[in-house]
Amino acid sequence: MRKPDDIFEPSLYTATRRPREQAETLPHWVYTDEAWFEREMDTMFRPAWHFAGLATSVPNPGDFFTLRLLDEPLLVVRGDDRQVRVFRNSCRHRGALVQEQAAGTCRGLRCPYHSWTYSIEGVLKHAPGLEGYSRDELAGLGKDLLKVPSGVREGLIFVHLGDPATSPTLDAYLGNYLSSVAAPHQTAQMVAVQQREYVLESNWKLYVEVDMETLHTKHIHRGSIGEQPVTVPASEGNWIGVYHESPDTPALHPGERQSGFPHTQGLTGPAAKGAHFSILLPGFFLVTAQDVMWWIHKIPDSATHTRVRVGYSFPASTIERDDFDEVSKRYYKRLNQVVEEDDWITEYQQKGLRGSAPGCYVPEEHVVHRLDNWILDQVLDAR
Ligand code: FES
Ligand SMILES: [Fe+2]
Repeated sequence: MRKPDDIFEPSLYTATRRPREQAETLPHWVYTDEAWFEREMDTMFRPAWHFAGLATSVPNPGDFFTLRLLDEPLLVVRGDDRQVRVFRNSCRHRGALVQEQAAGTCRGLRCPYHSWTYSIEGVLKHAPGLEGYSRDELAGLGKDLLKVPSGVREGLIFVHLGDPATSPTLDAYLGNYLSSVAAPHQTAQMVAVQQREYVLESNWKLYVEVDMETLHTKHIHRGSIGEQPVTVPASEGNWIGVYHESPDTPALHPGERQSGFPHTQGLTGPAAKGAHFSILLPGFFLVTAQDVMWWIHKIPDSATHTRVRVGYSFPASTIERDDFDEVSKRYYKRLNQVVEEDDWITEYQQKGLRGSAPGCYVPEEHVVHRLDNWILDQVLDAR
């Protein structure tokens, strides 16, 4: 199927707009075209609130971690007032990285280039080359670290890299996710134990779609998940998800599920009886199970390359257990295997897409149909 000249013409997508039973999947250029990708950045990624990390990763004043999001360097640090702030990790003198370590603890932030120094609240304190300046004159320069709009909800740190004036507030963005998933699952108790980042040769949407359908689990995850029936919880705001009810953890291989860690204390409602697999749109996949929380964050680098940030976390009370090192190995084995299987299938799918004709959505893919229509809403409504 040839790519048309105007890929933003809405009539090209009427087949995806039909009810799921008659709908066709998105055309291939949506997964390969750089102009489409740029439109997604403008309409979905820049106006969105993005997950940056866990508040438990910076428990004390001076604790920090760094990350890149939408290719911008960021620095997350807890101040002496115990507030978590997010700054652009760029020195206000001439733009060098202020902090290059992935994580640590500091009493101040010193840029290595010319040693401009900032407090952990981001205030410029010392500026070689401007020794004669009084404290007030330094403040008058307006060269404190640039703050990025951020917020902590249920232990999850979110940041916003677009124009806040034209974007929803964090709470409006998350809708009922906090009250119906995050709080009942006690996400604030979770402590990250493993995190990694890498780039896949696939479009970010393929990885979000695979997270939202159960048809592939009995094929791609035959030995790691098996069948996993799900229901769809009501979602308001910018998230969608599925729920799998089971007394046993989904984070171990099928034969080992009885021998997992105890449930997190304080789970309520459906959170006590199963796991939520949620996408905080556009690309943050967060699984909240009774004993563990993990995420696979998909951040596009380009139309055909996706930066993937993977993290595993447990409640502090689990990490303190004597058997944590031994039992957690079984979790990592199962979680790593499933991530590798999904990494593989999305890269494999990408190879076959160019020039392909649209397919269809089977019943197990109804959330994918909903997701693809949400993407069309964002990209085409901005026309
Ligand atoms: S660029 Fe940071 S001190 Fe000069
Ligand atoms: Fe999968």
